[in-house]
Formats: sequence, structure tokens, C-alpha cells
Amino acid sequence: MTAEGGMEAVRRVADLRARIAGWRAQGETVGLVPTMGGLHEGHLSLVRASLAAAGRTVVTLFVNPAQFGEGEDFDDYPRDEAADAAMLAELGVHLLFAPEGDEIYPEGHVTRVSVPGIGDCLEGEFRPGFFTGVATMVTKLLIQAMPDLAFFGEKDYQQLRVITRMARDLDIPTEIRGEATVREDDGLALSSRNVYLGPRERGVAPALYRVIGAVAAALAEGAGAAERAAWGTAELVAAGFDRVDYVAVRDALTLEPVETPDRPARVLAAAWLGRTRLIDNVAV
Ligand code: PAJ
Repeated sequence: MTAEGGMEAVRRVADLRARIAGWRAQGETVGLVPTMGGLHEGHLSLVRASLAAAGRTVVTLFVNPAQFGEGEDFDDYPRDEAADAAMLAELGVHLLFAPEGDEIYPEGHVTRVSVPGIGDCLEGEFRPGFFTGVATMVTKLLIQAMPDLAFFGEKDYQQLRVITRMARDLDIPTEIRGEATVREDDGLALSSRNVYLGPRERGVAPALYRVIGAVAAALAEGAGAAERAAWGTAELVAAGFDRVDYVAVRDALTLEPVETPDRPARVLAAAWLGRTRLIDNVAV
């Protein structure tokens, strides 16, 4: 479908379900790409993966208040639905689901989905309640749309693992697919929050990818995880980061700590530049 073919936008769950039921009746498969908008090439790579793998692609756009903590950037989060919709229509997305807040969380909504363990460490430790907010939202979207496939970025690696576990545990019949991180030429992972970076911060930011890449390379050569993680933290501070929440080496599936990676592992990090918190990760 072309942009002229017209991407439809709906705001109600009932309309989302009606469109998808129509496609199902025609035997179409459905791919879902959940987003909070502020779209960039990282999001668009997920959209392209869905368009290639499924007959119909639904993109969701909802800045989910349940995954923002006290003092986080919910109010400032970049919102430009018209620009986002234009990009999606151009790519040939079939449906945009952009609900209002009370469509998702009507008065009296209390149920939460939490994923202990894998959702409590790393991001879950520094952003308490974050993954409960994410898992609740994504569970709702998967139940609302019941897609064959749903696409998530490895940029948010722990989120991908939490959602995969949640879908499995709850018998949600959607295949969760992870897609590679899209980066700027200097290595900085694309993020909606990169617009917050000032010029000095933007200059320092690529060090995050460089340093975790160096940690991963050292581990592959047999270095110990704890020692290399400590080195990575010091390197980030030396490069100009204001604070480092963690540099960690974890099992790629369970996110449990590993000292010498004898199975697939991941180096994950989170660090602050001014008021902006950046996260990134690489495979070992
Ligand atoms: P958001 O931050 O908008 O990201 C939407 C999707 O885009 C996520 O799966 C994220 O991992 C992916 N993504 C972001 N930057 C990327 C990059 N540089 N390369 C590849 N993929 C990238 O993540 C969320 O929204 C929310 O938590 C959500 C899943 C929508 C639930 O509210």
C-alpha cells in the first residue's frame, strides 16, 4: 500500500480489533510494532521488518505513563503524531493505533503484569516499576491486537527479554522478534531521547558504545567480567559521562550475572549525560 493508499489511524481498541478481524477473515497475517512515537530510523527498521514478514502491519503510538517514574520525562517526552504518521504512511504501514490515555487506562484500571527477577535487575533496579509498566502495556497491546508477530529492538535488550518471558509465561500466542540496534555513524544508538543532548553531551555520547564494545572484545579474549566492568565504568567517567548506573556482563537469555562467558552473553550499560540517561548493549 502506498502513502496515497492511505494509512488509517484509529484511537479505539474496538476499531483496532474490527480492522484486524477483517484482515483475518481474508487470511492475512498481522505484525505489530509498539512505539511511544518520536520515531527515528530505529523504529522504522522494526516497521520494515514487520512489513517484510507479515501481510499487514499495525504500529502503535502511545506514551505510556505507567512506565515513567516520579521525576522522569513523561511531560517532556517528544510527541509529534503528525510527523510520525507521515513517516509510517510513507513506508506503507496499514494501520496506526494511537489511543488516548483513558482508552488504555480507564478510571479504575488496577491490574498490573510484573516479571520478577529478569525485570528487577539492571533497568528494573534503577527505574523501579519500569518493567511492570512496560509489561502491562505490552500485554494489553498483544491482547488487543493478537498479532502473529511483534517486533522489538535489541537497543532495549532487557525489555526484549522481559517481553519474551512475559509472552511465554502468559501463553500469548505471538512470536516476539528482536531486531538489531540502529546507530549513528559514530556508533551512538538512535533514541528518541537523543534530542535532549546538548553539543558537549552529543560529543561524549558515542563513548558508550565504544566502551561496551571494548569490554565485549576483552571478554571474548578471556578477561574477567567484574574487572572489565569496573574498567568500563571508569572509562565512561573519563570520557565525560557524569554518572554511570551500571556496566554489566549478563547471560544473554536470563540476564543473570556471568563472570567468564562460556555461553552467549551481553554487555549492558546505562550512564548519564546531564539530565539524559543513555542505555546501550552489545553481544559478547
Ligand atoms: P520506544 O522507546 O518508542 O521504542 C519502540 C521500539 O523501538 C522498542 O522495541 C525499541 O527497542 C525500538 N528501538 C528504539 N531505538 C532503537 C534503535 N536505535 N534500534 C532499533 N530499535 C530501536 O520501547 C518502547 O517504546 C516502549 O517501552 C514500548 C515497548 C512501546 C511499551 O510502551
